[in-house]
Amino acid sequence: MKITLDNLSKKYNGVYALKNVSINIPENKICGIIGKSGVGKSTLVRHMCLLEKPDSGKILYGNERVDNISEKKALIMRRKLGTIFQSFNLFSSRNVFQNVSYPLEICGFKDKKQISERVRELLELVGLKDKIHSPISTLSGGQKQRVAIARALACKPEVLFCDEATSALDPQTTRAILELIKQIQKQMNLTVIMITHQMEVVRDSCDYVGVLSDGEIVEFGTVKDIFSNPQTDVTKDFLLHLSSADTDKDSLVFWSKIPGRYTLRFPDSMTDNPIISKLTREFSVDFNIRGGGIQHVGDAEFGTLICDISGTTEQIKHVICELNKNGIKVEESKA
Ligand SMILES: Nc1ncnc2c1ncn2[C@@H]1O[C@H](COP(=O)(O)OP(=O)(O)OP(=O)(O)O)[C@@H](O)[C@H]1O
Ligand SMILES: [Mg+2]
Repeated sequence: MKITLDNLSKKYNGVYALKNVSINIPENKICGIIGKSGVGKSTLVRHMCLLEKPDSGKILYGNERVDNISEKKALIMRRKLGTIFQSFNLFSSRNVFQNVSYPLEICGFKDKKQISERVRELLELVGLKDKIHSPISTLSGGQKQRVAIARALACKPEVLFCDEATSALDPQTTRAILELIKQIQKQMNLTVIMITHQMEVVRDSCDYVGVLSDGEIVEFGTVKDIFSNPQTDVTKDFLLHLSSADTDKDSLVFWSKIPGRYTLRFPDSMTDNPIISKLTREFSVDFNIRGGGIQHVGDAEFGTLICDISGTTEQIKHVICELNKNGIKVEESKA
């Protein structure tokens, strides 16, 4: 289901928590919303889940406006929306079966056999069939999140909201949960809204991303476009932390202890273009390469090169301009 947010604003105690948020979230895709703590991510989710009303602006599911519907209609609408949270929000006094069957009972399933079959089907989907009777307290964080996913999917939602769903998990478990969400998204044709403060989560799971800063969406687009050509300082900052904090297979390799001044990001369309040596000849500059690597974004790959460029200020300016013209993003470190 396509979701449209049109000029959404919300103030708490006179301060904007959301300000003129306008985005079109395409259906059957995973859309990330990234932002630092307190910028309004959860507020945005509460509005999209119809748990709160905006001061102004509209929310549309498909072509239907939903921000102004009655509480009775909102209740029906909310059944199409599944949610999972960082804190899992499971009933700790119930076991796995009881947690997953709960929403089915709320949705009006009466037949015990039917409920049991559906719970088994869901636990199979999330890979937890053998834990069906386990008390929640005996599960690991990753297993708890799998129960939460099963529960969120119980009533066959069309949209799944994940609010910091992997923040409490280690990197390996995070990757496993993201893989599961990706697989389920395809299988069930879900529209997934992935709220996070980690660019790794966006890189590893999202098709689209919106960057939220102080209640405003400062950038929105495909993950591929945003990663190859970030426009705002907020986005650049997230990407910068991604390359330095990243220790998995995508990490960069440095063979110089001195950090390079420029980070060049090459889109996959540039793999057959010897642009660096061309520019060296054309502008009489020198490139000293200090590090590099490949970063994977969905199916696309970006070459990242950390280097210094020596030449006059004017020459360097021309080189950077030429790189940009060829679709290569150049970031200059301030240090
Ligand atoms: N019900 C409320 N009443 C008053 N202020 C609120 C309310 N809900 C949120 N806020 C304020 O709105 C701002 C955004 O909060 P929100 O919880 O949406 O941030 P967030 O991006 O989800 O942060 P985090 O990453 O820490 O979860 C904060 O300044 C918060 O204090
Ligand atoms: Mg939050």
